Amino acid sequence: MRDINQFTITEAVKASFKTAEGSRLKFLLEAFIDHLHDYTREVNLTHDEWIGVLNFLYDCGQISTPERHEFILLSDVLGFSALVDMINTRGGATEGSNLGPFYLDDAPRMALGGDLGRGRDGAVLLVQGQVRDTLGNPIPGAVIDTWQADAAGTYPIQEQASGQDKFDLRAIITANDKGEYWYTTVLPKPYTVPYDGPVGRLLRAGQRHSWRASHLHYIIRAEGYRAITTEMFFEATEYLDNDAVFGVRRSLVTKLETVKKTDTLPPTDKKPDAKCAFDFVLAPAG
Ligand SMILES: [Fe+2]
Repeated sequence: MRDINQFTITEAVKASFKTAEGSRLKFLLEAFIDHLHDYTREVNLTHDEWIGVLNFLYDCGQISTPERHEFILLSDVLGFSALVDMINTRGGATEGSNLGPFYLDDAPRMALGGDLGRGRDGAVLLVQGQVRDTLGNPIPGAVIDTWQADAAGTYPIQEQASGQDKFDLRAIITANDKGEYWYTTVLPKPYTVPYDGPVGRLLRAGQRHSWRASHLHYIIRAEGYRAITTEMFFEATEYLDNDAVFGVRRSLVTKLETVKKTDTLPPTDKKPDAKCAFDFVLAPAG
């Protein structure tokens, strides 16, 4: 160990961890140490750069709260979240996309045809579709967990100081016995990811904007199937091709259509102005 140098330190650090032979933890840790050390040697990292990185991570921790997770945002703008979504998407299933920082796991239940917008300003959008398996069979009783920004591009959870309920614009809906779901909501607007913290500094340093394409968030679950976390986007809206967190995939973009008098629509509590359709496909668990 005393003869350690910049070429032998990597193996020495790996050997210092007594993780179980053949375990996933050992595999992950050793690969991480290899890549971190290789990167450090490759770029000839200086002391100033090294402490700069550590202070940046410290700042991410300092600005984080239960409602704002700066590390998720960092992961998002680096394409790290999108990459994890991509490599975990199963063949034939709906492509995964960003969870984002605003998910709450205990949203209120809403009946089919309910209005998520609950009297908010904005165009009323009917969202409808079916949840199916990879063979095309409907999944009765699939659970649709959705959350979104409002018509001004704000999540109510961000506006609690001005009296908004953090559970607004989020709901859990159960599909019918044909796997069908439908509800109305307000059409969300694009928004900027938080720009006032360390991740904002990084974006400015790279001359990047912080806008996200307008989207609806979903987690779809059904017993016996692998849950998917994804987002739905709308054709002909801004930032589809330069979303700040790399969340857009061609297969997740749906068409917005104006509702016509002649349209046959499912029963809803509120009359929609526009409609879109999106089917979710789940792969078997395991
Ligand atoms: Fe979002």
